Amino acid sequence: MYVVTGKVALVTGGSRGIGAGIARELLKAGLKGVTIIDVNEEEGLNLVAELNNEFGQGKALFFKTDVSLREEVDAALRRTVEVYNNLDIVINNAVINGERDWERNIAVNLIGTINGTVLAHEKYLETYRSGEEAVIINVSSVAGLYPCAPLPIYATAKSGIIALTRSLGCSPHYTRTKIKVIAVCPGTTDTPALTIVKFLGPAYSDLYDDLRKCTPPPQRVSSVSKGILQIIEEGESGSVWVVEQNKKPSELEFLIRTQSE
Ligand SMILES: NC(=O)c1ccc[n+]([C@@H]2O[C@H](COP(=O)([O-])OP(=O)(O)OC[C@H]3O[C@@H](n4cnc5c(N)ncnc54)[C@H](O)[C@@H]3O)[C@@H](O)[C@H]2O)c1
Repeated sequence: MYVVTGKVALVTGGSRGIGAGIARELLKAGLKGVTIIDVNEEEGLNLVAELNNEFGQGKALFFKTDVSLREEVDAALRRTVEVYNNLDIVINNAVINGERDWERNIAVNLIGTINGTVLAHEKYLETYRSGEEAVIINVSSVAGLYPCAPLPIYATAKSGIIALTRSLGCSPHYTRTKIKVIAVCPGTTDTPALTIVKFLGPAYSDLYDDLRKCTPPPQRVSSVSKGILQIIEEGESGSVWVVEQNKKPSELEFLIRTQSE
């Protein structure tokens, strides 16, 4: 089992919502320190002040960072190891909702995750981890697993995250690097993200309203953050997990998983 106590983590898009929940859950589990990176500076600084009051001064840092920009993500990773000397866990969680500006959607949701994953994997985790293993968690969505009619651009980014995770997490890489790369697909979760979607057009927003009518109410953020802690501790590299309806995480099975490795 991977032990979180004493480790250092970085969470992207951690100023609020699921990212903020994960930062808090990891600190509760005994993390040495967490860096939160986000474009939302006001909420990020407020959260960091709250976490430092609750868990001890210096436990949380905030760097204003746009995940779509490789050099900004690199700078945040570098500043984290300068402060904490280590880096063990990277959670790529940042998201924007908005289908009309699809270039920006893919830049933040997919390229942003690639920036955090590849820089951590190739440049930081092998050198700066404090134990034998390190962990990258990529937050995807159930929308990345099946056709998602209201949100085709978001779904594209989210299924790309699953391909990235399974390709970089498979055994030839894990055997060499001892970095677990794992994807988590939350179901609908009660965060501000749900209220601010710009659809491709009215037909898409109607489909979204229809979908919401026949799906259960959004789950609690704490169900996702607790689930992610369990996945960090127990999940194998290359695995993909669903966390929905406030239930315990369940691992997905892929028929071709072993053939492709
Ligand atoms: N809420 C849901 O129903 C749900 C369902 C499935 C998956 N997810 C996934 O969970 C993750 C978190 O979503 P959430 O609901 O907490 O969203 P949220 O909107 O509450 O939080 C997202 C955070 O990302 C930040 N962000 C946006 N653009 C950024 C950028 N360019 N660089 C850095 N940070 C940026 C925002 O400022 C915000 O603080 C996302 O990956 C999302 O796709 C959410």
